[in-house]
Amino acid sequence: MTNYQFPKDFYWGSASSGPQSEGRYENDGKGDNIWDLWYKEQPELYFNTIGPEKTSQAYTHIKEDVALLKATGHNSFRTSIQWSRLIPEGRGAINPAAVKFYNELIDELLANDIEPFINLYHFDMPVVLQKEGGWENRKTIDAYVAYATACFELFGDRVKKWFTHNEPIVPVEGGYLYGFHYPHEVSFKAAVQVGYHEMLASAKAIAAYRALGKIGEIGIILNLTPSYARDENNPSDVKAAQFADGFFNRSFLDPSVLGEYPADLIDDLRSADVLPSYLVEDLEIIKNNTVDLLGINYYQPRRIQARENPHEWSVPMPEDFFETYDMPNKKINPYRGWEIYEKGIYDTLTNIRENYGNIPCYISENGMGVEDESRFIDKQGQINDDYRIEFVSEHLKYVHQAITEGSNVRGYHMWTFIDNWSWLNAYKNRYGFVSLDLENDGKRTIKKSGHWYKKVSENNGFEE
Ligand code: NOJ
Repeated sequence: MTNYQFPKDFYWGSASSGPQSEGRYENDGKGDNIWDLWYKEQPELYFNTIGPEKTSQAYTHIKEDVALLKATGHNSFRTSIQWSRLIPEGRGAINPAAVKFYNELIDELLANDIEPFINLYHFDMPVVLQKEGGWENRKTIDAYVAYATACFELFGDRVKKWFTHNEPIVPVEGGYLYGFHYPHEVSFKAAVQVGYHEMLASAKAIAAYRALGKIGEIGIILNLTPSYARDENNPSDVKAAQFADGFFNRSFLDPSVLGEYPADLIDDLRSADVLPSYLVEDLEIIKNNTVDLLGINYYQPRRIQARENPHEWSVPMPEDFFETYDMPNKKINPYRGWEIYEKGIYDTLTNIRENYGNIPCYISENGMGVEDESRFIDKQGQINDDYRIEFVSEHLKYVHQAITEGSNVRGYHMWTFIDNWSWLNAYKNRYGFVSLDLENDGKRTIKKSGHWYKKVSENNGFEE
C-alpha cells in the first residue's frame, strides 16, 4: 500500500468555463459570441441540436453549485469570465448584470474558502469582433486588453489567480486549420497569425495586470500534448515529433514562459512561408511579460512519425511536417476512443521542471468523457463512475511522482465539476463529478467520483 500525500496547501479543484456552464445567453444583456451565432445558423450541427443557451445554468445556481463544490471537497474552482457577457459588443459598454453575477459567484466561492481561478478567453469571441476578423485582426488585441483590464479592475481585489487564455491552440486548429470551429478557415498562414496574436494579446494583458499593481498571479492555460517519435533512433521521426511539439506546444509555451519563440519552429514556419506579420516592438513586449504560473491541461499524447503518405489537404498544412499514427495496443477510453497514457502527465511536468525553470504550475484540466452514463446509475440514483476514479487516481500517482522529484505542482483541477456543454458535442460526453439531468430541470447529483474526491481532498492524498 502506498500513501500518495500531496504538498501542504495543494489545490483540489475542478475546471469549467463561462460559455459551457452559464447558459441562457438571451438573458441579462449578454451579447452573442461565435457559438451563439453558429448555433443560430446551423443548430443541426450540435449534438441533439442542443446549443449554448442550454448549459448547466450556472448563472442561476450560484449558491447550490458552490455548496456542491464544498460537498465534493473543492478548495479551488476554475471558470472563465465570458467576454460577450461582460462587454456585449466586444468593446465599449460593460453589462452591469454581468458584473453582479461574477461578483456574486466570486464572493460565494471565497465565503466557502474556495479559491477562484479565473480565465479570460475560452474560445468565445464576441460576434462583433469576429465580423472584423477575430484573432486574425490585430485590432482585436486592443479590445481583448480592454476586456482583460476591466476584469482585473472589477474583480482583481478578490481574484488572485488569473489566466489570459485557455488552450490558445484550439482556436488556431479549430477555426483556421481543420474547420471544426467558427470561422472554419483552412489556412496555415492565417492559423499562425491567429496563434501569434493570441500570444501578443496574452503578453499585453499581463503587462496591463502588472501596471495596475494588483496583488496576485497571472498565467496561461495550455493543453500540452507530449509528442513521442515512433522510432527514437530514426532522425526523420524525431524531427517530425520535434515539429509537432514546436507547433502545438512550444509556440505557446516558449513565448509565455521564456519570452521568445523557438528557433527551430521559426525556421520550419519560414520554410513553409507562413511566418506571421509582426512589429519589432512586439517581441520586446513578449519578452518582458512572461507568466507567473502555468496551467496545464493534459488529456492524451501525440504519436508521431515522419510523413510517408500524402495528407488529406491540397493546401500547405502543418501536416506537411509530420504524420500521426495509432500506437498498437494502446490503452483507450473505451467510451470515447481517446488514448489514455497516464505517464504523459509526468513527462509533461518533468519537461516543465527541466526546461522551463520549474515554473509554478497547476494541472488545470484532466478528465474522462463518457457517453451515456445512465448505464451506471444505481438504485439510489447515483452514477457509479469507477472508471473516472481510476482515471484520476492513476494520473494523480504520476503527478505525485513528479512532485517527489521536485516539480513545482500546486494543484489538480479535473474537467469538470458538473457535466457541462461541450462545444459541438453538447452533452454527448459527460465529464463531471456531478451529473446533470437535462430532463429533470437540470437536477444535480454527486457521482461516486465526487464523493471519492472529497475524501482525497480531506486527506490531501490517498492510499492505494
Ligand atoms: C478542453 C477545453 O478547455 C474544454 O473547453 C473542453 O470542453 C474540454 N477540454 C473537454 O474536451
